[in-house]
Amino acid sequence: MRSTASPPAFLLPREAYCGDEWFEREQRLLFAHSWQVVASVDDLASGGDYVTATVGGVPLIVVRGDDGGLRGYHNMCRHRGMALLEGCGNAGGAITCFYHEWRYDLDGELRVVPQRKAQFPDLDLTAHSLLEASVGVWEGMVFANPDPLAVPLMEELGELPAGIGSHRPGLLPVVARADLSARCNWKLLVENHIDVYHLWYLHKRSLADLDHTKFEHTQLGRHWASYEPLRSPDLATARLVRGTRVIGHIDERDRFGVGAHLIFPNVLLAANAEFFMSYAVVPVGPAECRMELRIRAEAGADGDALLDAARSFIDEDIHACERIQAAMASPWFEVGPLAREHEAPITAFHEHLLAELVR
Ligand code: FES
Ligand SMILES: [Fe+2]
Repeated sequence: MRSTASPPAFLLPREAYCGDEWFEREQRLLFAHSWQVVASVDDLASGGDYVTATVGGVPLIVVRGDDGGLRGYHNMCRHRGMALLEGCGNAGGAITCFYHEWRYDLDGELRVVPQRKAQFPDLDLTAHSLLEASVGVWEGMVFANPDPLAVPLMEELGELPAGIGSHRPGLLPVVARADLSARCNWKLLVENHIDVYHLWYLHKRSLADLDHTKFEHTQLGRHWASYEPLRSPDLATARLVRGTRVIGHIDERDRFGVGAHLIFPNVLLAANAEFFMSYAVVPVGPAECRMELRIRAEAGADGDALLDAARSFIDEDIHACERIQAAMASPWFEVGPLAREHEAPITAFHEHLLAELVR
């Protein structure tokens, strides 16, 4: 919750949701220096395993080295800038550019340049290692940040790990993945995620078994964590999705309640008795974004059924945000007063976002 006594206010102008200039600024000043979920540790199990991702418009590679450590690089050959790898897979012992076959080892060092003696007689290989990116792991989620000098992931997360209660998603496998597209600015979905006020109304059916009057939420620096209990513990069994079971390691509080959290600026987390979900809202354009969902649950859980359960409220959220986006086409669009407590997290989000964009 905000500490100031002033009422919360919507601090961003309409252009922040529609304008190319805002989009470009956010990509450059915010996302190109942000930590984003790019994989699960299970995707990078062996030496040479790699994933590629684009963070803030910056193409990246995360690869597991022969020594077992994870390394991040810009997905850019130091010769003519070719994207070295695509998708995910195993690179073997080296990363070779397909254009002119410059070869880098998994430590990012340039090892082979074809026709080097004749064509590049003065080339200093050590000056052309792959550009580094930052990598971190939290609870089975692999994060990457294009900035090699980024604040380390755990330092950036600060108090957030303590805010997810007894959940330890790193103990659970990913049982479902999905990419959803939404015709709205990414910030609308973040604002919706931290808006307590809409739970009673937009989700009157999909989240009817939760006691919104007992919703607790805390601003943890730039991040945000929350918890709300079921209206009655008796509902716990009724809401179980078929083919799955309660997460074994969580405590009673988390068995009878749900959490929704935000890793600033755009990684949404949601947890209940059966699953832990990360869903980053990735900007695609000023009025377009993508949600990258990963659901973790006990091994053998029915991932499709859990995904359906999650989509019962996510689809409502996307629909609402797309309708706000459409309304924003009007030059008369404006936002009125915000709820004193239930929409206060939106103001905090705006304050932290604006602080990044003045860098
Ligand atoms: S661009 Fe990679 S070897 Fe030429
Ligand atoms: Fe919602």
